[in-house]
Amino acid sequence: SATRREATSSVSASGETVELADINWDDLGFGLVPTDYMFVTKCLKGGDFPKGELVHFGNVELSPSSGVLNYGQGLFEGLKAYRKQDGSVVLFRPEENALRMRMGAERMCMPEPTVEQFVEAVKLTVLANKRWVPPPGKGSLYIRPLLMGSGSVLGVAPAPEYTFLIYVSPVGNYFKEGLAPIHLIVENELHRAAPGGTGSVKAIGNYAAVLKAQSAAKAKGYSDVLYLDSVHKRYLEEVSSCNVFVVKDSIISTPAIKGTILPGITRKSIIDVARSLGFQVEERLVSVEELLDADEVFCTGTAVVVSPVGSITYLGKRVSYGDSKVGAVSQQLYTALTSLQMGLSEDKMGWTVE
Ligand code: COI
Repeated sequence: SATRREATSSVSASGETVELADINWDDLGFGLVPTDYMFVTKCLKGGDFPKGELVHFGNVELSPSSGVLNYGQGLFEGLKAYRKQDGSVVLFRPEENALRMRMGAERMCMPEPTVEQFVEAVKLTVLANKRWVPPPGKGSLYIRPLLMGSGSVLGVAPAPEYTFLIYVSPVGNYFKEGLAPIHLIVENELHRAAPGGTGSVKAIGNYAAVLKAQSAAKAKGYSDVLYLDSVHKRYLEEVSSCNVFVVKDSIISTPAIKGTILPGITRKSIIDVARSLGFQVEERLVSVEELLDADEVFCTGTAVVVSPVGSITYLGKRVSYGDSKVGAVSQQLYTALTSLQMGLSEDKMGWTVE
């Protein structure tokens, strides 16, 4: 098991010895690599989460009638820790994940960890699993906080007990294409979210809702699915696991957050980075016609970072962007964001946390 794996050592740029888990760091994809510890705390409905503790990574025990298993009363978050050249480890905007989890908890009738509690628990979990943070340039440690109704409930109602849990896994690129452009199909029948639903929070059920269209798309060779709004079937929403941006005449546009779209932290960061680089960025309704007419398209998310889109297929028509090469704007934004996240450029935004 992971906990029995040997450690190896390497030397950081500053000459310090860094202990690393003994795995092939060149072979990371986006799949679970079990690590040493996870964080757990529980509380009753209407209560506050106590401090919590680290336990060995492993399965969790749940009643068959728990709220999360029966009624999907659950949320997740996703953030990353990067190892810098000097061997130290930084988190990217963890307070933003804490705030988003609190927003989601309110929508899903669950108790909310405080921002401070969330960030401290993330730090504790990362430090306990520090040897699993990949060496610089080899990937990152993906951090997955979960908040769920773990108590038993048979009729539809909020669960009587809640669990806040954090586990981590070293990861590489999300898409099998790596950093090469991905190929998306626009879904015309199935929808990810509807007005008044839970599309704007990270409810676990939002991701179950995309599996059918995603599986069909992958079977046809596409990387993933781009969803349209469920009312007009005309405006872009998001991809299964990330937000979407289009570039036309150097103006960058992305669907506005209006209740059905996840407020991505990478989305928000890219908007700020792009504006700081002098781009005009618009958050508004973006139609599928504009998508087909764009110069460049890219996706953003914690897992996908900035993923350029090489082609879009809509109603059987395929439009390609940039001869399957990464577009200049996508490349510029990818470099600016990742340099900041990995500590390679000065963090003028104050977004990284040691
Ligand atoms: C993330 O980017 O952290 C996500 O939530 C995507 C996840 C569904 C893989």
